[in-house]
Amino acid sequence: MSGSSTGQAGRVTGWGAAGAAETPAGRLRRRFPTFDDLQGRARSRVARFAYDFVAGGVGDGAPNVAHNRAAMDAVRIVPRYALDLSGVATATRLFGRDYAAPVGVAPMGNTGMVWPRADAILAAAAQAARIPYVSSTVANVGMEELARIAPDSLWFQLYGCPAEGHRLSLDLIRRAEAAGAHALVVTLDVPMRQKRVHDVRNGLAVPFKYRPRTVLDIARAPVWALEMLRKGQPRFENMKKYVGEDASVGELASFVTQHMTTGVTWDDIARFREAWPRALVLKGIQHPEDAERAVALGVDGIWVSNHGGRQFDAAPASIDTVPAIAAAVGGRAKILYDGSIRSGLDVLRALAVGADFCFAGRAFLLAVAALGEAGGGHATSAFLEEIRGTFGQAGIRSVEEAARATVLHPNAVRFEPEANAAGLEAPRRRAS
Ligand SMILES: Cc1cc2nc3c(=O)[nH]c(=O)nc-3n(C[C@H](O)[C@H](O)[C@H](O)COP(=O)(O)O)c2cc1C
Repeated sequence: MSGSSTGQAGRVTGWGAAGAAETPAGRLRRRFPTFDDLQGRARSRVARFAYDFVAGGVGDGAPNVAHNRAAMDAVRIVPRYALDLSGVATATRLFGRDYAAPVGVAPMGNTGMVWPRADAILAAAAQAARIPYVSSTVANVGMEELARIAPDSLWFQLYGCPAEGHRLSLDLIRRAEAAGAHALVVTLDVPMRQKRVHDVRNGLAVPFKYRPRTVLDIARAPVWALEMLRKGQPRFENMKKYVGEDASVGELASFVTQHMTTGVTWDDIARFREAWPRALVLKGIQHPEDAERAVALGVDGIWVSNHGGRQFDAAPASIDTVPAIAAAVGGRAKILYDGSIRSGLDVLRALAVGADFCFAGRAFLLAVAALGEAGGGHATSAFLEEIRGTFGQAGIRSVEEAARATVLHPNAVRFEPEANAAGLEAPRRRAS
């Protein structure tokens, strides 16, 4: 969905050949060639509180979101030319399964507030494109239904629910296994809920509270409002089993608030490892020592992420911790990455600095906010096309070659105490 690479990618894949009648997909491609185009449309189409919920971060001005973007832009790839590009391939294998490209849909909760059944739209698009789709614990379409929509793409993301010895977490894990999810992603970087100031100001609540400001927001987004009215307010569907099939939006929301309290510990992860027979991934890792600890527990994937800048404004940019974490892991687990992946070029950047596979959150969800049902296919096609075009432009013929690209990464965090001209310091021990 980048501006510059899209046109080039079109030449490579033969989309929109001159003179051909324009298809609906071709029209969208021309009108919304970049993430920014989609974001602009989303902003004017959905209620302000729903848009801010997706696009925003934690504190005022979302500094960590901006930091993720600036750090991504700072990564440079040195292209190689005069190569035979007849065999450029983006397909890759992860945890024993084949995917069309090294990109997937990151887990996102409460997406139904942005567009009704956004989870189902994105799951179907991922299945059609042969890429992974990670369903959130707090999705608005239940994991069993998503498994029917996307049997080849479904992964499940777990937020720990520590009450009663993780009884609920372990039941969700069992259900994900029965539904056929290919990987379990345990999110670490929400140890406590954070005050997201834009949500506080907007009076965001589940179910919606009709304050004057909310009503004004809704009135300014008539297409979205009509769609919400027709389909009803989104529910945390995975929780119906525990609260009741007829539970109200509010009852399901309070159940989530009561149970998702403090995240998970290393002991919990060891238990989840025993309970889950397929690929296990820990999401939200930012420190090489945490990655080492995860590998020691038999984890299959380390997902480097700062939650898209939604949790901790002082965190390093997600892309900047990838090289040190990849070095610490040394091939013992796969390195997954998210944070400001908005185009095929960003995917290449992440692969070049050490990731094996990437995920995007907002790029997919804002496409649905902008275009509704058509947004899922538009976003997956754009990513696939751009990854291929960008690979070709840089002289890279496969995901394996991307890992060997010559890369400039000026802000990469170095964790050794002596290497701190620009990087982070290792924790100092206080003299006793
Ligand atoms: C609206 C929204 C909801 C999210 N909900 C979850 C969630 O339920 N579980 C989770 O692990 N991460 C969640 N995330 C974080 C994403 O999985 C991912 O880490 C982040 O979006 C990546 O950054 P990007 O949006 O810049 O691509 C959410 C992100 C967004 C934008």
